[in-house]
Amino acid sequence: MQDDKIKLRIDELINNINKASYEYYVLDMPTITDQEYDDFYNELLYLESKYPELKRDDSPTSRVGGEALSKFEKVTHNTPMLSFDDIFNEDEIISFDERVKKVISNPTYTVEPKMDGLSGSLLYKEGILVRAATRGNGMEGEDITLNVKTIKSVPLKLTEPIDIEVRGEIYMSKKSFVSLNIEREKNGENLFANPRNAAAGSVRQLDSKVTAKRGLDFMAYFIPNPSDYGIKTQAESLEYLKKLGFVTNYKLNKLAHNANEIIACIDELGSIRDSLPYEIDGAVLKVNDLADEERLGYTSRVPKWGIAYKFPAKEVLTTLREIKFTVGRTGKITPNAIFDPVHVAGSLVTKATLHNEDYCIEKDVRVGDVISIRKAGDVIPEVVEVKLDRRKDDSVSFEMINNCPICNTKLIKKDSHHFCPNVHCPARKIEGLIYFASKDAMDIEGLGDEIVEDLFNMGYLNDISDFYKLDTHKDTLMSLEGYGEKSVTNLIDSISNSRFNSLERLLCGLGIKNVGKRTAKMLAIKYRNLDNLMNASYDELVSIKDIGETIAKCIKDYFDDDKNIEIINKLKAYGVNMECLIEKAIEDTNFAGKTFVLTGSLTNITRDDARDKIESLGGITTNSVSKKTDVVIVGDAPGSKYDKAKELGITIWTEEDFINKLSNN
Ligand code: IVH
Repeated sequence: MQDDKIKLRIDELINNINKASYEYYVLDMPTITDQEYDDFYNELLYLESKYPELKRDDSPTSRVGGEALSKFEKVTHNTPMLSFDDIFNEDEIISFDERVKKVISNPTYTVEPKMDGLSGSLLYKEGILVRAATRGNGMEGEDITLNVKTIKSVPLKLTEPIDIEVRGEIYMSKKSFVSLNIEREKNGENLFANPRNAAAGSVRQLDSKVTAKRGLDFMAYFIPNPSDYGIKTQAESLEYLKKLGFVTNYKLNKLAHNANEIIACIDELGSIRDSLPYEIDGAVLKVNDLADEERLGYTSRVPKWGIAYKFPAKEVLTTLREIKFTVGRTGKITPNAIFDPVHVAGSLVTKATLHNEDYCIEKDVRVGDVISIRKAGDVIPEVVEVKLDRRKDDSVSFEMINNCPICNTKLIKKDSHHFCPNVHCPARKIEGLIYFASKDAMDIEGLGDEIVEDLFNMGYLNDISDFYKLDTHKDTLMSLEGYGEKSVTNLIDSISNSRFNSLERLLCGLGIKNVGKRTAKMLAIKYRNLDNLMNASYDELVSIKDIGETIAKCIKDYFDDDKNIEIINKLKAYGVNMECLIEKAIEDTNFAGKTFVLTGSLTNITRDDARDKIESLGGITTNSVSKKTDVVIVGDAPGSKYDKAKELGITIWTEEDFINKLSNN
């Protein structure tokens, strides 16, 4: 074939594939079989490999991903990527409607499913996708173009050659989420807690080939500058998006005229929620008429013309089978509810903490009870209540244990908690080992709780230095049931790599009582290496702001114990880094070593991002204001923390001051 004939054929194949994708994803009405689709696709692949110079940038074959990146570039949004305020009940829906009606006489609203993923911005130039970005802090996001190009429901080329920005949700379907977790379980990898986390984790992969395999989807719901396209309502925006080739929720997006109609739409969404192929966590309400939206305007943070209604946390019923007591690394005893497995908010759960004796007595939980479970803050499962009307007559009241369930030592009680006082209790050791490998400490990928427990029980681990000796047992480990060559090699590699962590991780992982992630970081920055810290006197430690007498004593006690020194010497011999790698320069910044408290709502940066920024510059964030606080950052509608800060004469920064200081660092 001549070049122009091949080019024509390539164009034809791409058109056929795009048409088929549009019918499949957008219209939900396929007109060709999977086999026909595959034939087009394979022919295109063949022609592109034979004539690489004719490969088009918007070819659907580029969805498989490309070269891995070393980091994501930052991108500035053309218009800030805002989100709506959240509301949780009917009264708040009525108030929203009333607020709108003070400005607009007969409003119409769109009621759209609130997709539970992460928002993304897609930029098209002359109809071709040129950039995709995360929301980030609303002003600045990350460039995820390569990853988004792999999402099959994102059109790489629009049906019209226009310049446009489109916003929508990047999400993972329930089906893809389940398959992904099955695969991860097989490979001994950590499971994702829900489809939202899985989507966020997949979109932030530096290697787009990994993203391509994750089965992400995109649902379009917003055009930032609709008037540029002659659009007059949000409903028209949604129509136009569909026409351009985007998947919209056209079957479920509804119109409503008052609070009652909104509530009816939300009830309807709630009733079909479980049967949808993806997770939704509420409904998004928007004033339909764009001229009305303009009249309503914005607060300093959010649009006044829309709001996000969140479904109440889902509660499910199950039967309590056992109350199991576990021993933490400090010896703390925790009663845990073990119940029949249930799906709650996207994941399968089998246990929830019951905290302590008082909690169990207050809830009056008994083995055999029917209990309701929900996810607190959508993450951690909790027991909501016991269904007393379903309690069996022969049920037995909860009773706290008196002895450690592992070493049988008599428990002691401090405040509301019981503790096993035996420092050699194997359970405390296991928890200490698990903690060493955890995210806050050495962050060793693949070292889940169960593996650590197995390795401890098999005698491979006695103290934390033994992790670095595991490579000498590689062959034995590989011969054990459930430990394949690949997983053992990966595990040993990630353990070995953890030797190069900065000091604060090791310091946290040592498990010194009362020295958690934040204190460890502060100490690492101050002392620069472990020897300096070990040589610090009690008086010196206690004179440091943020270190009280209790922490200073715990640090001294830890380093005064010869067994601990022996472990540290072994770690040194295995080549574990003992130096702080956080740049020294940041000690001179506006943040290093200082303690910050945030209060009120921030407009241009989320609280989590603000905390991350402060901590990455060596600062510490805490939740309450005290004499030890250096700076209180005050957003809109600050709470009592602001008053307290003024009372104590603490430095106060506005959000603007904060952003300025950030840019000075
Ligand atoms: S519109 C100005 N529509 O929920 C905000 N958002 O606060 C424009 N979301 O962060 C967003 N489904 O990530 C809109 N149909 C929908 C949505 C939706 C989910 C997310 C979005 C945003 C939050 C709303």
